Amino acid sequence: MEVERVQAVASGADLNEFPAKFIRPAHERPENTKPLEGVSVPVISLAESHDVLVKEIYKACSEWGFFLLKDHGISPGLIEKLQEVGIEFFKQPQEEKEKYANDPSAGKFEGYGTKMTKNLDEKVEWVDYFFHLMSPPSNVNHQIWPQIPSSYREVTEVYNKELLKVTDTLLELLSEGLGLEGKVLKSHVGGDEIELEMKINMYPPCPQPQLALGVEPHTDMSALTLLVPNDVPGLQVWKDDNWVVVDYLPNALFVHVGDQIEVLSNGKYKSVLHRSTVNKERTRMSWAVFCAPPHKAMIGPLPELVDEQNPAKYSTKTFAEYRYRKFNKLPQ
Ligand code: OGA
Ligand code: NI
Repeated sequence: MEVERVQAVASGADLNEFPAKFIRPAHERPENTKPLEGVSVPVISLAESHDVLVKEIYKACSEWGFFLLKDHGISPGLIEKLQEVGIEFFKQPQEEKEKYANDPSAGKFEGYGTKMTKNLDEKVEWVDYFFHLMSPPSNVNHQIWPQIPSSYREVTEVYNKELLKVTDTLLELLSEGLGLEGKVLKSHVGGDEIELEMKINMYPPCPQPQLALGVEPHTDMSALTLLVPNDVPGLQVWKDDNWVVVDYLPNALFVHVGDQIEVLSNGKYKSVLHRSTVNKERTRMSWAVFCAPPHKAMIGPLPELVDEQNPAKYSTKTFAEYRYRKFNKLPQ
C-alpha cells in the first residue's frame, strides 16, 4: 500500500498549499495554545543520595509525571552513537526505507511508519517513525531492525542494556516513594519480561509549524518512557492547565510516567499529558523507549495502596486489554 511519508511531503518543491490533513483544529494549534513562560520541568541527578532521590522522584512524578534525569550512567558517547545510527537510517533513499514499511491495520506494528487518515476530518501528525522491540530477547525480531547502517544492531543492543539498568533503578525508587519495597513495581510490570520498545521519531522541517503538531496531546500507555531528543526543542508537557516547554538538556533522559504506573500507584503518580511541536527550519528527532508490561500482565491499583479510605480509582485488566481499549479510543 502506498503511504505518503511526511519526509516526502516536506521535501516536495510544490508546498504552496499546506495539506489540510496536517492543520490541527483551532483549539489545538500551537498559535492558539502558547506555553506558559518562566516555568521549567524538574531536573534530577541520579548522583544524589538514595533518600533525596526517593523524595525528588516522588515529587516530580506526583506533581508532573515528568522529569529530566542526568548523571544516569549512560555515556554521552553511546547516546551520540544511538543518534548517529538513527539519522543514518532516515538519510537513506525513500525506496530503501519502504522495505521496512509497517502495516498496523494488519497487526504489523514494527518497522517504518507514518500515520494515515481513516476519514476526511481526521488530522495526522507531522512525523515519520521507526518502531521495534528491544527486550525481552524472546520478543525481538532482528529481521525488522534497520540493516543499514550495519552498526545499528550493536549500538541499539548496548543502549537497551543500559536502559534496562536505569529502568530498574527508577522502578525501585518509585516503589519506595509509595512506601513499598523496592522490587514491587518491577515485579508487577513483568520482572525480567518487561518490554522495551524503541520508537525513533523524525519530524522534518514544517512550513506551517503554528498550525501543525509533531505528536498530538496524549499520555503514553507504557509504564515509563525514557526519551532522548536531538537539540531541536519541541516537547511540551501539560501542568496545571498550561503547556510547559521542555528545554533541551544535553545527554539527559526525558522521563515520562506512563498510564501503567499511574494505575499501579492508584493515581499517586500521574501519567503526563504531552505533545510535540515542529520547527520551520530544522529537523527534530527523538528516540523514545517505551517500557511496558508483557501483554498478559494484570495491571490494577496495587493492593497495598487500596483500603476503605483509599478505594481503587482504576479497574484491573491485562495490559493487552488496556492497549486494545486505548488504540480503539474505548473507555478504560
Ligand atoms: C512519543 C512522544 C515526543 C517527542 O513518541 O510518544 O511523545 O518529544 N514523543 O518526540
Ligand atoms: Ni508520548
